[in-house]
Amino acid sequence: MAAEEHRFVEMHPRSAELAESGRRHLLAGVPMPWMTRWPGAFPIHVAEASGAGFVDVDGIDYVDFCLGDTGAMTGHGGGALAAAVGRSTTMLPSGDAAWVADELHRRFGMAKWQLTTSATDANRFVLRFVRHITGRPKIAVIDWCYHGTVDETLAILGPDGSVISRPGAIGPQVDPALTTRVVPFNDLDALDAALAHGDVAAMLMEPALTNIGIVLPQPGYHDAVREITRRHDVLLIIDETHTISAGPGGCTRAWALDPDIVVIGKPIGGGFPVATYGMTEPLAEALDPVLHGHEADVGGVGGTLAGSAMATAAIRATLSTTLIDADYERMIPLASRWTDGVAASIGRHQLTWSVQQLGCRAEYWFSPLPTNGADAAASVDDELDAFMHLWALNRGILMTPFHNMALLSPEHTVADVDHHTQVFASALAALTALTQ
Ligand SMILES: Cc1ncc(COP(=O)(O)O)c(C=O)c1O
Repeated sequence: MAAEEHRFVEMHPRSAELAESGRRHLLAGVPMPWMTRWPGAFPIHVAEASGAGFVDVDGIDYVDFCLGDTGAMTGHGGGALAAAVGRSTTMLPSGDAAWVADELHRRFGMAKWQLTTSATDANRFVLRFVRHITGRPKIAVIDWCYHGTVDETLAILGPDGSVISRPGAIGPQVDPALTTRVVPFNDLDALDAALAHGDVAAMLMEPALTNIGIVLPQPGYHDAVREITRRHDVLLIIDETHTISAGPGGCTRAWALDPDIVVIGKPIGGGFPVATYGMTEPLAEALDPVLHGHEADVGGVGGTLAGSAMATAAIRATLSTTLIDADYERMIPLASRWTDGVAASIGRHQLTWSVQQLGCRAEYWFSPLPTNGADAAASVDDELDAFMHLWALNRGILMTPFHNMALLSPEHTVADVDHHTQVFASALAALTALTQ
């Protein structure tokens, strides 16, 4: 690790200078606190990005398997997007709005849609709606989920099974035990018991966990979740923000799920800050009274720059040209090739590591595959994680921070994937040489 850290500093004198300048007036030296989590002494600074790669300010080329943590899943800087967002905001809908809603309906099946500036906002707003409609105070979430900076969701199960704040969650508005019930993924009995209290308005979940690594549902899990939620009159919200990796309509379409509400953000604007949520017709009808009238702008669902002409144009430019069937036909086999390359190295070294794939997203683990969020969290190895990220970065590969995930865009090539396979193999060779 020391050798890799030294190599990193030697390679990036200009990024080092810019990082130093950033420390003058940027809180924590970076525009967002999570940017401190990159491996190496400072974050590399980007000069330009295009397709599936970018160049840093020291002139080094990288293959980008992070893709803005799904925000740039389409690849960087599509021409259609650049042309679409060259306007301002007017507070009026544009001609693109109806196209966008029709397309979202076609992909995800929900009847009525609305725009926000982030998936966090989309989740926040639907939680207000479901409480308003049901009159119930609590939200159920999956243990070790992530749905953005949404207060109700920054909660996990404590050692005694009670609901506690997630480690690292700063300044909670209220004790999350008052707002949230937490259930382990793939545990139907726990879900049934949690909802039996009768105080849960909605269950908010990713169809497969992606933020604590990829954890897939066991056979029959989703059908049972839907049966249990319906039996307890609990609405079901599916957050497809990352799981759109499974196909153009996310897991909702790929696995024929039947939610009441779908949330989708990040890639649908090709990197432009937009997100949406869609709901069934009966929910839209139930909400209708609060969407009209004098208080419609102060109800807690807002965002001055949401739903602008620029936002709808960005979604139209993206969804009319990318994230379509033909792209997935290219991306998913590339992700399979990436997965096979990683699995071959793991097998060669007879490690107990594993690798998991969800459409065009793939991820390796330093353990056998976990089946729920707590097991996934327990298998994280921060030191090994930092080493693997830095080893890859020093050899021209950017992996998604916080875990060992790669996302494949339509712009990636077989050569990009094979480059990763070779770099991953060399990391394992270096690690195992140390133990011999
Ligand atoms: C499943 C899921 N939902 C919502 C969000 C929040 O997205 P944003 O940070 O763009 O608001 C994230 C972010 O990683 C996410 O993974």
